[in-house]
Amino acid sequence: MRVKTNNANKDSKGSAHHKARSLFGRRKGRPLKKERREALDNLLPKLQIPKDKLSEKHECNPQDFFTNPLSSYWLEIGFGQGEHIATLSERNPKTGYLGAEPFINGMAAFLKSVEDKPKDNIRVLMDDGMIIARSLAPASLEGIYILNPDPWHKKRHHKRRIINRENLDIFAKILKPGGQLVMTSDVEDLSAWMCTQASNHPDFEWQAQNKNDWSVPPENWIPTRYEQKGAKGSKKMVYLFFKRK
Ligand SMILES: C[S@@+](CC[C@H](N)C(=O)[O-])C[C@H]1O[C@@H](n2cnc3c(N)ncnc32)[C@H](O)[C@@H]1O
Repeated sequence: MRVKTNNANKDSKGSAHHKARSLFGRRKGRPLKKERREALDNLLPKLQIPKDKLSEKHECNPQDFFTNPLSSYWLEIGFGQGEHIATLSERNPKTGYLGAEPFINGMAAFLKSVEDKPKDNIRVLMDDGMIIARSLAPASLEGIYILNPDPWHKKRHHKRRIINRENLDIFAKILKPGGQLVMTSDVEDLSAWMCTQASNHPDFEWQAQNKNDWSVPPENWIPTRYEQKGAKGSKKMVYLFFKRK
């Protein structure tokens, strides 16, 4: 399904409007249970990055999204139900985490899960994560997670894959030198694709020295929901750590 996203730009009067781009994938699933609906209604307005701050002109300092100063900032694109970003934010209260997930059921599950937890260092967008990426200032992030992105198996759909040259250019721009791009998948063809695309990019360097470095999760790795449910049988998880040169 192709859905038009609302990407922010300012018009001549200075008010925010959003350039239409295509976001591939679903935004809605089953109707939300009452407690998830309530979490969405109550918490999203508090944690959502205001769209009018996202100009897609690489002008935003991630600090502007948070009340308290934080030491560094990471972005997770497509966080699903958000268990990875939620655990990280608890482990590292001084680090700011930006997360994007356009699927309302995923966002609602995430918000319900953090309801009773500290969340001063998390901000989210229920939309295309590239809107955040295109808005962040150059060299403003310590790292980017793209964990188990949609594989888009058919060849004619490969151009929909989030890892592509255009988006890698954007990630290279917003990462600090030495910053990390972390990608995972259990889909062999997609893992190879992501590894090739990033290896061929002049600004990224693959950190793996041997097979264990990409086939075994690093110590303290937080498995995502998809990783726990999906990586079974012949499917093999691959963990790709690239460094911004
Ligand atoms: C296969 S799921 C993996 C979810 C989660 N990362 C995990 O490992 O459990 C891929 C997720 O990426 C989200 N997604 C797809 N395109 C996106 C985009 N442009 N920006 C943000 N999220 C996106 C989808 O809605 C979906 O929830």
